[in-house]
This record gives sequence, structure tokens and C-alpha cells, in this order.
Amino acid sequence: MTVTSQRSTGSGEFTERYGPWALVAGASVGIGRALSMEAAERGCNVVLVARGKKQLELTAAEVANRHGVQVRTVAADLASPDIGEVLAEATADLDVGLLVYNAAVGPNSRFIDGDLDLHLLSVDVNCRTPVILCHQFGRRLVQRGRGGIVVISSMGGTQGAVNFSTYNAGKAFEWILTESLWTELADRGVDAVNVFVGATSSPNYDAFKQTLDPELCSRTGTDDPLDRARSRLMRPSTPEEVAAASYEGLGRGPVVYTHPDDEFVSRVCFSLPRAEATRVWRALQETSTRRPDRIAR
Ligand SMILES: NC(=O)c1ccc[n+]([C@@H]2O[C@H](COP(=O)([O-])OP(=O)(O)OC[C@H]3O[C@@H](n4cnc5c(N)ncnc54)[C@H](OP(=O)(O)O)[C@@H]3O)[C@@H](O)[C@H]2O)c1
Repeated sequence: MTVTSQRSTGSGEFTERYGPWALVAGASVGIGRALSMEAAERGCNVVLVARGKKQLELTAAEVANRHGVQVRTVAADLASPDIGEVLAEATADLDVGLLVYNAAVGPNSRFIDGDLDLHLLSVDVNCRTPVILCHQFGRRLVQRGRGGIVVISSMGGTQGAVNFSTYNAGKAFEWILTESLWTELADRGVDAVNVFVGATSSPNYDAFKQTLDPELCSRTGTDDPLDRARSRLMRPSTPEEVAAASYEGLGRGPVVYTHPDDEFVSRVCFSLPRAEATRVWRALQETSTRRPDRIAR
């Protein structure tokens, strides 16, 4: 299901079910900043977690000033082995009704050419810590009989692709974990949703966009999944659209897309033999003129 950015601002219903506190893991910039802002816009107090203290404090001040909610910051590394204890202690006095997992590490190289430690770091941030936090906060939410879990995955998690082996695998892990939570927890009052995010404007993405071949991205509106995926690269969503669609997805899970073209590409690729689907994504990687990414050996 594609959920586009409808806003239900300051909704009492939202805070009743998912408030009074939301915790956003990976909260200071990009989509995480927008998710923090949107949770506050919907009436939640917000715990913001990220490593860089200065940006974290800036974002926290913006959230509080704009929406008049309480904010708490936790400067912590989501790759730390003790992250569960750190966040349990930091939120022990709060009634957290919404867990939002947004941070990710994206190694970008051929698997065997990449640094093993970076692959393992991505496993920690994209798989291990989501398990720890979904377990810990999942129990808390079930105990209080209501709440939500939003996991920011990626279109990358729907298949293997060159240069993104552990990233895509981690995003698939998040998807299946969240889908399992959706089916296990729905009748215990907790809504889980996996968000298949596609191209979204952020400093990293905007730099990548500069490397795209405009000619290859110009074929809009065709029924070819590669054309559709390539043209989408030129039309990234805003972080605000992704944040609004993510919260609209709560209660409509187990998965949501934030753009109709992403859903189209995904549906077509799921219907293809795996080798063909993987070829579509290999060609998509080659849309960038960035070397060595363009050279798919
Ligand atoms: N942008 C896209 O086009 C796109 C497409 C598909 C999926 N997504 C998904 O959307 C999510 C956000 O993407 P984005 O582009 O907005 O990311 P981003 O710009 O890299 O921001 C990530 C946020 O998480 C924090 N963070 C990163 N690593 C952390 C760690 N180890 N511990 C604590 N905090 C950490 C960052 O702050 P610090 O660095 O200060 O810690 C920052 O606040 C990711 O899950 C990504 O996979 C994005």
C-alpha cells in the first residue's frame, strides 16, 4: 500500500494510541529529523537519539520551539553493545508509546572488496540494534496495551543488488522482523509498520543525485520497472513526505510505500524470476556515473 503524505496534525487519536512519548533512533538530520518533527506535530513528546551532540541539540530545540512539546536528547551510538541498557535508563521515567527506528549504515562497494568491519557495523546498526530495541520497547508497549513501532527500511530491502549486499540484506531483515511483529502484536494493541523508503532528498542522496545520468532517467510513465525506478531517482521525496506517510502507515501495515512508483517497481520485480529482478536493480545501480559503481562486473 502506498501512503502519501496526508497530515493529521495534533491528532488526539494519534497521541492516545502512540503517545505520550515517541523515541526516534537516528533523529537529528534528514528523514530522522522529519520523523521527530512530525511526531511532535502529531502531539507526542519526543526522545531524540543520535551521535553528534551539536546537531542533536539544534534539532531538539527546533522540535520543542515549533511544536511546544517536551524533548529529551540522548547522544549515543546505536552500534554500541550496551545500547539497550543506555536507552532503557534514559527512558525509564517516560511512558514511551512509539518506537521509530531510522538510523542505518550503508556500505557501498562490492562485498568482497569492502571492509569487513564496515559490513559488520552495518549488521549492528541495521539488524542487531533493531532487534534489541523492538524486543525491549515491544515488551513495554504490550504491557501498556497500546503503541506503535515504525521501522524505516528501504526499497533496497526487496532484492539483492550490486554494491549494496549487506545494506540490502539488513533492510530485508528489518522488513521481515517488522512484518513478524505486525502479525504477532496486532491483537495485543501494538501496530508495527515497515516503511519501504525510496529516493529521498538528504545531503547524501542529493550528492548521489548529481552523479545520475539524466538521459537514462528521462523515461517517465512507462510500464518498464527499470524506467520507472530510474525516473524516480530524479524525483526524490522530501523527508517530510516520508515522515508523514510513515505515521499514516501505522495501523495499515505490515508494509507501506511512500511513493506509488516505488510500489509499482516492487510489485513488478516480485513477480519476476529472481535473476531478472536482480538484473533490474543491477542496471539501476549503473544509472550513476560514479565509478566504480557504473562498472557492474
Ligand atoms: N535518503 C534516501 O534516499 C533513503 C532511501 C531509502 C532508505 N532510506 C533510509 O532512511 C533512513 C534515513 O536515511 P537518511 O538519508 O535520512 O540518513 P542520514 O542522513 O544518514 O541520517 C541518519 C540519522 O541517524 C543518525 N545516526 C546514524 N548512525 C547512527 C548511529 N550509529 N548511532 C546513532 N545515530 C546514528 C544520524 O546522526 P549522527 O550521524 O549524528 O549519529 C542522523 O540523525 C535510513 O534507514 C535509510 O536506510 C533513505
